[in-house]
Amino acid sequence: MKINPANSNKRDLHELFVSAILPRPIAFVSTIGKDGVFNLAPFSFFIPLCLEPAIVGLGIGWRRDGQKKDTLRNIEYSKDFVVNIVTETLAEAMNQASAEYPSGVDEFREVGLTPVKADLVKAPMVAESPVSIECKLIQILKFGEIPTGSHVVIGEVVQAHIRDELWSGDHIEVTKLKAIGRLGGDLYCRTTDTFEMKRISII
Ligand SMILES: Cc1cc2nc3c(=O)[nH]c(=O)nc-3n(C[C@H](O)[C@H](O)[C@H](O)COP(=O)(O)O)c2cc1C
Repeated sequence: MKINPANSNKRDLHELFVSAILPRPIAFVSTIGKDGVFNLAPFSFFIPLCLEPAIVGLGIGWRRDGQKKDTLRNIEYSKDFVVNIVTETLAEAMNQASAEYPSGVDEFREVGLTPVKADLVKAPMVAESPVSIECKLIQILKFGEIPTGSHVVIGEVVQAHIRDELWSGDHIEVTKLKAIGRLGGDLYCRTTDTFEMKRISII
C-alpha cells in the first residue's frame, strides 16, 4: 500500500494522518468572538514547533457547509487563543465541544465548563483544565481549497498556567496530569502506560 497525496483519495490520506501519526496531543482551544461570545473546540492537528520563540501550530479545516470554523474566525478577530490540555476527566466535555454548534453559542455553557480570564490575551481559559497556554497569533497560512484545504495557525506562547500540584520542583508530574491523546477513528489513549529509556550519549 502506498499513498501519494498527488493521486490518492483524501480519505486514505486522512487515514494515514490520523491512524499512523499518533498519539496526537489535543489542544482544547478557547477563543472569544467579536460578539463577545466564548468558544471551545478540540484540535488534534496541534504541535509545539519551537522553543525560542515559543511557537505552537494548529491545523484548522473547514466546516462541512464550507464556512470557517468559529475557532478560526475568532482567532482572526482577537489575534489570540488559549490551548487547554485535555485530561481524562475533561474527555466527555471535549467531545461534546467538538459538535458543530451554530456561531454565537457559548460552548463553555453548553458543555458545562467555566471560563476564566487570561492574563495577557482576550480569549478565556478553561478553569477545569490543569494546564492552559495563552497564545498570541503570529500568522495564519491558508492551504488548498474548500472543503479539503486547511489553515495552519501559528501562535506564540505568551503565558502558561500549570496547576501547582502538578509542578514538582523542575518538572510536570505526567502521571498526575493524566492527559489524553488522539488516535484514529473514535479511539483515544491515556498517558499512564509509559516506559523509560535513557538517551544514549556517544563520547
Ligand atoms: C479529538 C478531536 C480532534 C479534532 N481535531 C481537529 C483538527 O485538528 N482540526 C480541525 O479542523 N478539526 C478538528 N476536530 C473537529 C473540530 O473540533 C470541530 O470541527 C468543531 O466543531 C470546531 O468547532 P468551532 O466551529 O467552534 O471552531 C477535532 C475533533 C475532535 C473530537
